[in-house]
Amino acid sequence: MKSAEIASRWLRYFAERGHTVVPSASLIADDPTLLLVNAGMVPFKPYFLGEVRPPFTRAASIQKCVRTTDIEEVGRTTRHGSFFQMCGNFSFGDYFKETVIPLAWELLTTPVTDGGYGLDADRLWVTVYLDDDETADIWQSKVGVPAERIQRLGMEDNFWSMGVPGPCGPCSEINYDRGPDFGVAGGPAVNGERYLEIWNLVFMQYIRGEGSSKKDYPILGDLPSKNIDTGLGLERLAAILQGVDNLYEIDTSRTILDRASELTGTRYGADHRSDVSLRVVADHVRTSVMLIGDGVLPGNEGRGYVLRRMMRRAIRNIRLLGAHDATMREMVAATVDAMGTQYPELVTDLARIDSVATAEEASFLQTLRTGTSIFDVAATETKKAGGGVLAGERAFQLHDTYGFPIDLTLEMAAEQGLAVDEEGFRRLMGEQRQRAKADARAKKTGHVDTSAYREVLDVAGPSAFTGYDSTAEEARVRGLLVDGVPAHEAGEGDDVEIVLDRTPFYAEGGGQLADAGVIRLGSGTEIEIFDVQKPLPGLIVHRGRVRSGGVVVGADAEARIDLARRGAISRSHSATHLTHQALRDALGPTAAQAGSENSPGRFRFDFSSAGAVPTSVLADVEETINQVLIEDLDVQAEVMNADDARRTGAIAMFGEKYGDRVRVVSIGDYSRELCGGTHVRRSGELGLVKLLGESSVGAGVRRVEALVGLDAYRYLAREAVLVSQITDVLKAPRADVPERLSQVLARLREVEKELEKLRAAEVLAVAGDLARAAEDVGGTALVAHQAPDDTSADDLRRLVLDIRGRIPADRPAVVAVAAAVGGRPVLVVGTSGPARERGIKAGDLVRVAAKILGGGGGGKDDLAQGGGSNPAAIADALAAVGRSVAQRAAAA
Ligand code: ALA
Repeated sequence: MKSAEIASRWLRYFAERGHTVVPSASLIADDPTLLLVNAGMVPFKPYFLGEVRPPFTRAASIQKCVRTTDIEEVGRTTRHGSFFQMCGNFSFGDYFKETVIPLAWELLTTPVTDGGYGLDADRLWVTVYLDDDETADIWQSKVGVPAERIQRLGMEDNFWSMGVPGPCGPCSEINYDRGPDFGVAGGPAVNGERYLEIWNLVFMQYIRGEGSSKKDYPILGDLPSKNIDTGLGLERLAAILQGVDNLYEIDTSRTILDRASELTGTRYGADHRSDVSLRVVADHVRTSVMLIGDGVLPGNEGRGYVLRRMMRRAIRNIRLLGAHDATMREMVAATVDAMGTQYPELVTDLARIDSVATAEEASFLQTLRTGTSIFDVAATETKKAGGGVLAGERAFQLHDTYGFPIDLTLEMAAEQGLAVDEEGFRRLMGEQRQRAKADARAKKTGHVDTSAYREVLDVAGPSAFTGYDSTAEEARVRGLLVDGVPAHEAGEGDDVEIVLDRTPFYAEGGGQLADAGVIRLGSGTEIEIFDVQKPLPGLIVHRGRVRSGGVVVGADAEARIDLARRGAISRSHSATHLTHQALRDALGPTAAQAGSENSPGRFRFDFSSAGAVPTSVLADVEETINQVLIEDLDVQAEVMNADDARRTGAIAMFGEKYGDRVRVVSIGDYSRELCGGTHVRRSGELGLVKLLGESSVGAGVRRVEALVGLDAYRYLAREAVLVSQITDVLKAPRADVPERLSQVLARLREVEKELEKLRAAEVLAVAGDLARAAEDVGGTALVAHQAPDDTSADDLRRLVLDIRGRIPADRPAVVAVAAAVGGRPVLVVGTSGPARERGIKAGDLVRVAAKILGGGGGGKDDLAQGGGSNPAAIADALAAVGRSVAQRAAAA
């Protein structure tokens, strides 16, 4: 059975049983505690927690997931994949254990001809949580699984949570016995490779707290209702139904693996090491394509780093298999072929995905080239110092500065007979990771962990944002933090974070900066607000300082935003939408948004593009935008169904969660986008948009920066003044300025050349005299001359060559000329053929002299250059050249 068929049977089965089919959310999790979606339940977390009322009580989905904790296992076992699809069915306070267990069993064991998966019931084993007698009983008496095929396991295996504080509960897993070829008997408790876990049924009913491992965390309480969350690994079931040994050989992965095998000329199945590499390539390329497809770009932090790491491991393994050129284009195409049926957007987005992947590949291949020379230096130095171990700092530097993966360093070191101080390397990496983590979190939430916010949210409840329609609000203080710690009150001078039940303040998000403003309490209290964040879904935190009075939880408050700032930010945000649309019109739909920042009076907009956007296209885009302003289009925001939104052609941003209701902002008929931000009422309010230019911000991503409204006007006004000043200086009419300037510059270049020639002639004028005055040192003609200060190094070389040319060709000759250039001594030495035959080499002479000059140098036997730091030693250095020539001449 093909993967696509497994997916469609799943959805049909649950739809027929009252479940709403929910499309996969983006891999980019809309959840601050997670980088990437790693389970089918992630998009439903707010429903489990009771933060949001679910619009349905039963749902089914096939969710794209990425897990990278077991990345080292990929390719080595038969069952670990970094990307997988989790088939799930969910109940939000509807059915529970006694329903879900028979439901799962029926789907697995119903014959294929009757719409099921047709698994042999005798091969299925189940596990339950230690003391969960109820579940064991349902399996035994209701479903008829014999007692010996029901095993009990502890928290590590049979209690499920997201790995972070949140919903959790005991679970029961269904495992398939793949037979003795996969190892010893004894059930899943004994052998996870043979008894493959295929479906996990989680009885989601508790909330867990912070903890250090899978089995060590406190249960904080009950969820508002008892729920069901299940996950069946589509790829694992496919392996069973397709009769293949492992995940990498199922229909979708095999296409990718075969392509890698073709491109590298490696036969799959020939030897274990290459098989592992082929599987790693197939797995990692697919994960990379799915991540890029959802808008992740390679980077050094967070998701970007996950992607970069995947791509680099893939490229590294392709190299191990013997390919040395770029292969990503072919690998991406094979992946899109394999996955396009289930994810048609990959086909539409192929050009963009390809450009991101190939650019990252090109830069990594370059990294490998430079890194290799740096590595060689480090290896030589280590050996020279008599050591057999490459220092951890060097390995770290290779990794940190040159992006060189440690496994590559290890392998290359081994080739040179060196070990690597891995422990030192890992310590430095750990330290760096800690710094990065703290930075990233601090940036996002202002705190290292979100538990304090969770505490406030639990008490205060979610805040309502009313700022689309109002700019001031009567509200109540629901929660307070002082120095990051929940507090009941705060006084004058305190830095506080305030939570209100309702607020007109927009929290930073969706590329839009936060509102600023003031919160006043009846008692004369005034709190200046300068930042607003949403550290948890539903929680809006106002950051500010108590200017006067005091604040206590429960007090009435008036929240008022800074209107001028909001207006300017809204203008920028509307301008960003216009720019996005205009760029798409000009460059095609691959110019998809990759990020933005809307600040007062200015914005930046990042988008995918294989290369630079030509200035003429940018000028057209700018004109189109300003034309839309003149048309003074009506701006509307409408909340609608995600499917309806897509039907109206609204541009959906990556990272948007396809919940059932979305907000669509349209500017006339010109632009329509999913957006939670604030906007102007009519496009005319923007006044003017000025694009400042475009630049690269990473592989395959360009950035436009622009000004809006008065800021745009002021910029243009300043430019106009500047042009006036230039016309004054040039005494030329405005229209002639460019031409006049190029004339002036051309003339300047000519004059510089002239001057250069004159200077060279002046230097060379002495050449004849110097050649004639050559001293005879043991049969060798020697010229040692100090040229005037600041004779350029080029001129010194010219002079050396000129003098040498004037001495008869059959005579051994050495010419040494030095000068102080910019306060530092520079020395050039030339030797003639007959001198070299006597063993007198320019490079050797320069080394002797450079030592005296306090520096170094070298070059070929016939011409060499050196320098140093002490110009006062030039005469001594020239004398040393003379002595050295005498010695060498005598020796010859
Ligand atoms: N959420 C459960 C899992 O990921 C089903 O295994």
